[in-house]
Amino acid sequence: MTYENPKLILAHSALREGSIMWKSPSNLAIVKYWGKHGQQLPKNPSLSLTLDTSFTQTKLHYAPRKVAGQDISLSLLFEGQPHEGFAQRVKQFFRKILPIFPFLKQLDLTVETQNSFPHSSGIASSASAMSALALCCCSMEDEFFGTLDEDEVFDRKASYVARLGSGSACRSIYPYWALWGETGEVPGSSNLYAVPMAEAVHPVFHTLHDDILIIRSGTKQVSSSAGHSLMQNHPFAEVRYQQARKNLYELINALRTGDLEAFGKVAEKEALMLHSLMMSAPSPYILMAPHTITAIERVWAFRKETGHPVFFSLDAGPNLHVLYPETIIHEVRPFVDTQLAPLCEESIYLQDWAGEGPEQL
Ligand code: DP6
Repeated sequence: MTYENPKLILAHSALREGSIMWKSPSNLAIVKYWGKHGQQLPKNPSLSLTLDTSFTQTKLHYAPRKVAGQDISLSLLFEGQPHEGFAQRVKQFFRKILPIFPFLKQLDLTVETQNSFPHSSGIASSASAMSALALCCCSMEDEFFGTLDEDEVFDRKASYVARLGSGSACRSIYPYWALWGETGEVPGSSNLYAVPMAEAVHPVFHTLHDDILIIRSGTKQVSSSAGHSLMQNHPFAEVRYQQARKNLYELINALRTGDLEAFGKVAEKEALMLHSLMMSAPSPYILMAPHTITAIERVWAFRKETGHPVFFSLDAGPNLHVLYPETIIHEVRPFVDTQLAPLCEESIYLQDWAGEGPEQL
């Protein structure tokens, strides 16, 4: 299956100026995508929680191109300022998706983008940023050609395109929960795009909170892309991919039945396995910080003392995600404020929760 379509070229008379704006959230994988092959294809299926307050807002302005050329014509402002590194990444992404949206090279494009979370908070922005751009491109196609008016068709294409920008971005397209990667557990699942999972999830998981402890901000020493490639010669790679499938099976059942304990067990196993894969990679590295471990110990102690279903997850970084259902927020927040916030850089943590997915503005 491919979305390449050389027919999506604008007649000279159809060229005009306009803009499109999308807000798209970040997501937190509970079963992690770690290891890829080919054109951004995952080695195992992953399942994530779509966030709400951590998002990217992107405006894509387009106008008939003044100087013709085969390359993309793009300028970019990140949080109001030029940003060469990010501009290059977006340009690369647009070059990659040119066979899908050939009309992009007929236009002068201006991207204005900003994140809701603090700059260099250590929160990965690629999922929200790349999904927002993919949504803008799909909206542009629909405006020009009227080809994507069905929501399901639109979302699937946006997810496919987002994947080409950053694997995890393809899951940000859907509300609450999304699965990316082919598995017999979910009919219709695919390695090429994510599928919505909200309807297969018990309502308690639609109220999940994620307090993100900013233990250490700044860019990490080893990028996710480098981490994925280290899986290629990893001694535990095959065992990992099997374990991920087993954890996925357990997670799908836990989400369906509303079993918080089983959910938490998978979330924590996956977080620790992700980091143990980094530590046992051919060139080993550590992304957890001392305060990450202290925070984990405090979450475990709090759970033991109170019996409250509070769990953690980790992304490829030191920041701990503290997960719990809305029903116990009044018990958990004082614990986070007094025992976990002091472990954060500048005592900052972000309050996030299960979100409704992207929104066109
Ligand atoms: C640990 O999606 O950032 O967050 O496809 O190379 O852009 P690329 O990688 P990316 O990897 C995310 C890794 C992860 C787990 C996850 O989100 O599933």
